[in-house]
Amino acid sequence: MSTQSRRLGRSDIELTPVGLGTWQFSKGRGLVGGFWKSLDDEATTAVVAASLERGVSWFDTAEIYGRGESERSLARALTTLKVTPGSVRIATKWWPMLRTAGNIPRTIDERLECLSPWAIDLYQIHQPFSLSSVAKQIDAMGDLVEAGKVGSVGVSNFSANAMEEAHAVLARRGIPLVSNQVRISLLDRSIERNGVLEAARRLGITLIAYSPLAQGVLTGRFHDDPAAVASVSWGRRVSGSLGPAALKRTRPLVEELQRIAAAHGATPSQVALSWVVSFWGDVVVAIPGASKPSQATEAAAAMNLDLGRDELERLDRLSRQT
Ligand SMILES: NC(=O)c1ccc[n+]([C@@H]2O[C@H](COP(=O)([O-])OP(=O)(O)OC[C@H]3O[C@@H](n4cnc5c(N)ncnc54)[C@H](OP(=O)(O)O)[C@@H]3O)[C@@H](O)[C@H]2O)c1
Repeated sequence: MSTQSRRLGRSDIELTPVGLGTWQFSKGRGLVGGFWKSLDDEATTAVVAASLERGVSWFDTAEIYGRGESERSLARALTTLKVTPGSVRIATKWWPMLRTAGNIPRTIDERLECLSPWAIDLYQIHQPFSLSSVAKQIDAMGDLVEAGKVGSVGVSNFSANAMEEAHAVLARRGIPLVSNQVRISLLDRSIERNGVLEAARRLGITLIAYSPLAQGVLTGRFHDDPAAVASVSWGRRVSGSLGPAALKRTRPLVEELQRIAAAHGATPSQVALSWVVSFWGDVVVAIPGASKPSQATEAAAAMNLDLGRDELERLDRLSRQT
């Protein structure tokens, strides 16, 4: 892998294979903000700086991450770091639950204000559950592109069928659906079974891998120190991947990540990230999250790690058995 940029779907937007996810910037607020420890502005700015230093060119955020707190923290960090608007790409997401498509035009100015002065290069529908049809939501997103409010349109957590429908609705207006953001990692390969990978390749849609480190499990830190599980949030503990049985099941895979990492002078998380953005070719890019600058540095530096075909395949086999 290298830092060489990849095209976002059939847009003219270029992205590095690894971006930065900023759910961790929620400041403990809102529906999902309590999942991560609250970080102050100094901490989030240091994380953004570490990513930029290692060549990361884009950031993913969302309205639901702290009701705009993540977007605002990201914008403040980029401002503090004197980043020039336009020199990095920003992806954010509209929250559809219990809302209709009419909410999309009503709330876009609030999203732009939270991210000001950065533009929204990619605007995503966060998940498929809304009071309006996919077609109505997607048409409202298309209107935003035509009005010049956002650069491109993506979806998240969409099935292959919903993704095809969204693609078709936009295609009628000559606008590409550029991405589907879904959970992808060595511990979650559902894209291979549910048609999403096949549809993405056929339609020229980029898959954005969220939770590519399985929320820290693939770093090996909980295998090395099971007592550390007690220090993470309740939501994270009940997710099912941190219990003793789950850690036992994933241990052989993590040990292989550790062996491959040692051979490259790298870390298990870098091997896990490199695998995600290499195994299926250019179609997958990843947005690891980080709560410390060292984690962001490590994730970004994974772009300099080239795994051999035999290493990719060894991990492929083990992850299928896990
Ligand atoms: N579209 C969606 O529905 C959706 C859903 C989930 C996530 N996302 C996006 O995807 C991004 C990433 O997903 P994620 O945050 O769920 O999972 P992730 O990237 O797999 O895991 C991130 C967490 O792993 C730990 N970590 C990272 N690097 C580490 C290292 N080198 N050593 C030890 N621990 C390390 C940190 O945990 P600690 O903070 O505890 O140290 C970090 O917060 C999010 O920020 C968000 O932007 C989108």
